Amino acid sequence: MDDLAGARLKSSDIRTDGMPPEMQTLLARYPRDSWESHAGFKELTRQWLGAHEMFRRLSATVRKDTELFLDGKKDSQEFASNLSYRGGALVNNLHGHHGWEDRSYFPELLAADSSFKVGLDILEKDHVVLHRGLDDFTQAANQTIRLMQSNNQRSMDEAGKLHTVTTHIESLLVRHLSDEEELAVPIILHYRLRG
Ligand SMILES: [Fe+2]
Ligand SMILES: [Fe+2]
Repeated sequence: MDDLAGARLKSSDIRTDGMPPEMQTLLARYPRDSWESHAGFKELTRQWLGAHEMFRRLSATVRKDTELFLDGKKDSQEFASNLSYRGGALVNNLHGHHGWEDRSYFPELLAADSSFKVGLDILEKDHVVLHRGLDDFTQAANQTIRLMQSNNQRSMDEAGKLHTVTTHIESLLVRHLSDEEELAVPIILHYRLRG
């Protein structure tokens, strides 16, 4: 079953189209493999890309942990403890990161070059969809942990729901982070921002 009753993020909500070609004009001039050696590539941009890498790793780890538990290869107490810690870190850090991007980072990029508004609007919409998924995730993770602590057999069903939500979040994150980097970093390098 792909989508679950009660889940608010559906696989059909996940954006599969890339950025429109007109949003990639600066990327053609500043391809990804040239960023690190560019004089405008500063510590703030390195840290921002590092946060993205952490989100990729964390979402993949939570998804893999859930698979191991469902396959009977991970002890339920260890799974609950890891899920509580890593799941909390993923949700809290993504909320903070996206809030800052919406309030501060995207307006800074828009002020530098308003012709990229369409792309920034796509990224902002991704944040809204992702947050719906994070709400689903929090609900499913809390319910899974609660059922496991009372040795309830339904914990496996709930972990199955959790796996579906986690997979959706990871898919959208991978798309979002890559598109965001390829829109933002060329603008930063071209206009020498954040340095
Ligand atoms: Fe973002
Ligand atoms: Fe981001």
